[in-house]
Amino acid sequence: MHKKLFIPGPVEVLPDVLEKLSTPLIGHRTKEYSELHARVRAKLQELLYTKNKVFLSTSSGTGVMEACVRNCVSGKLLSLICGEFGERWYEIAKSNGKEADALRVDLGKAIRAERVRDALASGRYDAVALTHNETSTGVMNPLAEIGAVLQEFPDVVFMVDAVSSMGGARIEVDRWGVDVCLSSTQKGFGLPPGFAVFSVSEKTLNKAATVPNRGCYFDFLTFNEYDEKNQTPTTPSLPHIFALDYQLDKWFKEGMERRFERHIQMAQACRHWAKERGFALFPEAGYESVTLTTVDNTRGINVGALNTELGKRGFMISAGYGKLKDQTFRIAHTGDLTLYDLKELLGVIDEILGQGKA
Ligand SMILES: Cc1ncc(COP(=O)(O)O)c(C=O)c1O
Repeated sequence: MHKKLFIPGPVEVLPDVLEKLSTPLIGHRTKEYSELHARVRAKLQELLYTKNKVFLSTSSGTGVMEACVRNCVSGKLLSLICGEFGERWYEIAKSNGKEADALRVDLGKAIRAERVRDALASGRYDAVALTHNETSTGVMNPLAEIGAVLQEFPDVVFMVDAVSSMGGARIEVDRWGVDVCLSSTQKGFGLPPGFAVFSVSEKTLNKAATVPNRGCYFDFLTFNEYDEKNQTPTTPSLPHIFALDYQLDKWFKEGMERRFERHIQMAQACRHWAKERGFALFPEAGYESVTLTTVDNTRGINVGALNTELGKRGFMISAGYGKLKDQTFRIAHTGDLTLYDLKELLGVIDEILGQGKA
């Protein structure tokens, strides 16, 4: 039986979108492809409220995180960490031989803009990496406020992992001063994994030109060179691009405001349910993610047993991530899921808990 996915990626992919993935292939150096490429880029620019370049990458999101480190860090990176995915930025920097400092806050807490300002005032950093939506703790960091601080330090490149927020939450790249904003497609985009998109500012491209050893596959300047011809440097995952083109049209038809509002409504319903049932929310109040809810398992239910029972009924949620594996569980409400889908899931969880099966 297919299990409807309420995990933070991959997410459910709707049948009409799955169908687009099987569009007959075209050559990636043809006029037809270039038209598709330009169309998708323009829609992504609209989604991100940006005039910056938007590149298409046949990789997962982590690949683009590595690309950011290799293209944008020549001095020292400040890695803002509030969970496992923030740790990933730091590990990528270290494993690429870059200098990096970690600014950590306790799990469940958000990164505050003032702390970023204090760190940058030291003048020690040429790049900052932030996880917009920390998928492990369910914290959504105040991106606009942190972006405003970054704009006080125009020589610093601001790189944002929006893997679990893009498409579900409003991100105003230009107004908020985000230099690189990246996401993969298996979450908010409601597409399969294996593809990523990222916006890159002019400032970032100028900086990259001064950074040695940017590598080959992920050189931003090569992306830019090909993008100017409406192409990608290597053979892209065409099925993803067909489906992305279709998906973005559907979103604009739904209306982006309505899409963001739908995510907020699902998040509110999920939080309300958790509190009503005697659980707590793991993230600090005011910084809860709109695309997933990390529930503090204060009732000590057996999450493994719950998921087994859910599986028999055609649903799946997620255990906690990393250090929070046993303390929390996570319900994702993003992509093309609706409030109706979420309420159906929560009803089934109630039934299982009511029967004492978890
Ligand atoms: C916040 C965040 N960053 C990065 C990643 C890694 O993305 P990918 O699996 O596409 O490499 C994930 C995946 O769950 C994530 O949630």
